[in-house]
Amino acid sequence: MSGNYTIAIAGATGILGGLIARAVLQPPYDQIFRQVRILTRDVSSPKAQALKALGGAVELTEFNPVDELSVNNALGGVDIFISSLGRTTDEVHKIILGGLVKNKVKVYIPSEYGNDHSKNDFEVAVSTSKLGQQDIARKMGNGLLKVVAVYTGLFPETGLINSGIGPLLGFDQENLTYTTVGDPATRVTYTSVDDIAKSVARLSHLAIEPSTADSVPDHVTLSGAAVSYKDIAGFVEKATDERITLKSLDINAWREKMLKEPTLINVIRYLIGSGKMNYEDDNHNELVNPGQSVWKWKTVEEVIIEQHVSGEF
Ligand SMILES: *[C@@H]1O[C@H](CO)[C@@H](O)[C@H](O)[C@H]1NC(C)=O
Repeated sequence: MSGNYTIAIAGATGILGGLIARAVLQPPYDQIFRQVRILTRDVSSPKAQALKALGGAVELTEFNPVDELSVNNALGGVDIFISSLGRTTDEVHKIILGGLVKNKVKVYIPSEYGNDHSKNDFEVAVSTSKLGQQDIARKMGNGLLKVVAVYTGLFPETGLINSGIGPLLGFDQENLTYTTVGDPATRVTYTSVDDIAKSVARLSHLAIEPSTADSVPDHVTLSGAAVSYKDIAGFVEKATDERITLKSLDINAWREKMLKEPTLINVIRYLIGSGKMNYEDDNHNELVNPGQSVWKWKTVEEVIIEQHVSGEF
């Protein structure tokens, strides 16, 4: 292993960003990324201080993404920039990009981790904005900034049953009824946030080393697990001994509704129902974790059992 790189993470006080910070501090990455710079608005916050306590390689740096000077200063000497910020406006993205180019940052992993936009068969503002930001980054980077977008489907930790947006995706645990858009047997990709963090650590390493950089494409798709609502109902029935009723909504009617009202949830439910968020047959799992030799991908059933044991449902 060679390398003595500085990696900077924006959004590390969030769940995924925090896990990415932890992943790059683990062997073998601790020998590759000698400085892990946590970019945060408030270095004194308890979450920032908890990250600082993870080890000597961690440096907390103040970062205000709407302030050009703050961004430029924070990115000095950075080799790899990982964002897990929530949605950034084009304006803010331009400021960050300016800082990346000015400081000759070599690898940029933008905040994606959701759906692979290229699979959409419709136009929607979120995708247009995110792809537009990627395009600008590749143009402004002028071949010197490698932009690696990572698509991972849904998070089982926040997209199932009672957790996070689970209820909005049709999981009604109170009434033991799960409602799908289209066929309940259609599978969707769920990738655990832990596995995404490990994948991002590995991709950062592969992308920064000159000998492996070419093996990393601009768009990386991962599929930790692919399951249907029918499968999920089966896992819950096994864990709880209760019967789940599956209901299905007409997908063509849903599509019309989504095109009229393209809210994030309407779009996600259409993507799930149409099978466009199932990456099991077309992904880069082997690039980040060949033959599961680096780790074992977490299954949806494992997460469901954990959530049941912890009393989430
Ligand atoms: C369960 O069903 C009742 C009656 O239809 C409804 O009012 C309630 O909102 C449902 N619970 C959830 C969590 O959706």
